[in-house]
Amino acid sequence: MPIRPFEQHTPRIHPTAFIDETAVVIGDVEIGEDSSVWPSCVIRGDIQSIRVGARTSIQDGTIIHVTHDSRFCPGGQPTRIGNDVTVGHKVILHACTVEDHCLIGMGAIVMDKAVVSTRVTIGAGSVVPSGKVLESGYLYVGSPVRQVRPLNPRELEFLEYSAENYQRLKERHRWMLRSATVTSDPIMPGLELPPATPKARIRRSANPKRG
Ligand SMILES: CC(C)(COP(=O)(O)OP(=O)(O)OC[C@H]1O[C@@H](n2cnc3c(N)ncnc32)[C@H](O)[C@@H]1OP(=O)(O)O)[C@@H](O)C(=O)NCCC(=O)NCCS
Repeated sequence: MPIRPFEQHTPRIHPTAFIDETAVVIGDVEIGEDSSVWPSCVIRGDIQSIRVGARTSIQDGTIIHVTHDSRFCPGGQPTRIGNDVTVGHKVILHACTVEDHCLIGMGAIVMDKAVVSTRVTIGAGSVVPSGKVLESGYLYVGSPVRQVRPLNPRELEFLEYSAENYQRLKERHRWMLRSATVTSDPIMPGLELPPATPKARIRRSANPKRG
């Protein structure tokens, strides 16, 4: 089951959001309007909360988790992801904040209490250490990340484009699922089960030797 409660919390998914049937969303998680969660993602809000805004894409294989309340982290630490964010394939976002209109490159890792401010691009494979605050409007790359340069107008425009592009793509996937009629996924209640397929009849010859 891709979307499941944990203790008193059940994920709240906006009806226009797309959650791939191979993704797993657990517990205190909210996913906003027109956002998308792609195959094999794990969004586990069991020991703190996770909020994903509107028009944000969480791409294939990404893992989002949180930190629990303990003497090492009083109150625990949630994960917050804003609107119009592109989270590339196989990213790890752990107990951190990503503000609006950011692009998190493929395979990047953002660690506890890090803040990725609005309109930041993080290069593929980069690591944002715990507690680091990235300045709005800049490109960051590397492990640990370093500030490279301000994003140019084309790159800033791309942040908008990327979010819009993934909104369009998730609509195409929703449409395919609607027309496929091969799922009983509870998050797609409009989908019908396929009609029962008649079992193939096995003709048995009266004379087995003749086949
Ligand atoms: C970060 C990125 C945007 C930089 O693009 P760019 O225009 O080539 O950047 P620049 O040419 O200004 O490079 C700046 C420096 O960062 C380095 N660099 C670029 N990408 C890097 C990366 N992912 N990790 C480490 N260093 C990187 C360049 O080699 C260059 O180093 P130098 O100054 O020592 O020569 C691009 O490389 C990238 O990683 N994009 C992410 C794409 C992605 O994952 N999209 C999501 C998929 S949906």
